[in-house]
Amino acid sequence: MSNRVQIFDTTLRDGEQVPGSQLTTEEKIVVATQLEKLGVDIIEAGFPVSSPGDFRSVVEISKAVREPIICALSRAVQGDIDAAADALQYAKRARIHTGIGSSDIHIQHKFNTTREKIIERAIAATKYAKTKVEDVEFYCEDAGRADLVFLSQLVEAVIGAGATVVNIPDTTGYCLPDEYGNKIKYIFEHVSNIHKATISIHCHNDLGLATANSIAGINQGARQVEVTINGIGERAGNTSLEEVVMALKVHQELGLETGINTQHIYPTSQLVSKMMRMPVQANKAIVGRNAFAHSSGIHQDGFLKNNLNYEIMNPQDVGVDKSDIVLTARSGRHALKHRLELLGFSFEKAALDELYTRFLEVADIKKEVNDGDLVELVRTAEAV
Ligand code: KIV
Ligand code: ZN
Repeated sequence: MSNRVQIFDTTLRDGEQVPGSQLTTEEKIVVATQLEKLGVDIIEAGFPVSSPGDFRSVVEISKAVREPIICALSRAVQGDIDAAADALQYAKRARIHTGIGSSDIHIQHKFNTTREKIIERAIAATKYAKTKVEDVEFYCEDAGRADLVFLSQLVEAVIGAGATVVNIPDTTGYCLPDEYGNKIKYIFEHVSNIHKATISIHCHNDLGLATANSIAGINQGARQVEVTINGIGERAGNTSLEEVVMALKVHQELGLETGINTQHIYPTSQLVSKMMRMPVQANKAIVGRNAFAHSSGIHQDGFLKNNLNYEIMNPQDVGVDKSDIVLTARSGRHALKHRLELLGFSFEKAALDELYTRFLEVADIKKEVNDGDLVELVRTAEAV
């Protein structure tokens, strides 16, 4: 089995469904070009049948971005597949992503049909998409809550019909990591033609488990993972690209790699946040403002002795300039001394102790002490 995990970015499709985050075609081209620079393998550029704007975006992204595969979403109906194929006509490498509900909840309450009919429709859609493009991905919507035996039959049927990739989405973010990992394991063990397709992971974050579930699926043999920048997406979002990519990079013992140029992660995160009007929470893993900031005295002291004490990756690896020591009332003398030295001041122990007492008074009032405050502190200390 290959050790290369394909990164399928759906920021411009699943991510763009977030209210208030819609982009114009021109803006989508900017994001897609940055995703290409980041090194994603597949860009899901939109859902062409959904609107003329989405159709145009897939057309224009296909013309502008040549390296990654360009993918378009469709439901398992001919009109959607036709629109996806038409929108992808300029793509150097095109993929149609079609699919249908796979859980009994969806089968009964969304499609009002039976498992047998779902399989028939899935086979027909896959075969029809195959008449348009060679690369067809099939999604088994709500696979997270689907019956495993039926899910395996569905996967086997669409691979038999020519699907090159089969997506097992936890659409509602319901699964626990072991549960999701076991689902993927079961599929590998029970689908006889599994070697003919790549299994893809697509998780949502309703329980905050999207990244954990994605890693669990990859550990069981899935070799494509569907992600968005900053984890944006429906409700609580999708699996975030930066988390999965860095988890695989930090845990080298897994022996897995991606094609991501990780130094472009932070600039891409900033671009997407700004263009999609979605602020990144301060404590967001990898790309949040505090992801490389140290603020308590014990941590600052340990970090200044050796950054390995409190960092599992270098900020530069993800495109962040440097770690940050935030001076607050929780900071110790070591951090204060270090910052003063960076500003060109050095003090004997007794003078530093005195300055530290005054620093704490300022920190209690100001909460965060910046370089300007420190210079002022030094000036008043010298005047006394
Ligand atoms: O979450 C989901 O099931 C999806 C599919 C359309 C792939 O986004
Ligand atoms: Zn989704």
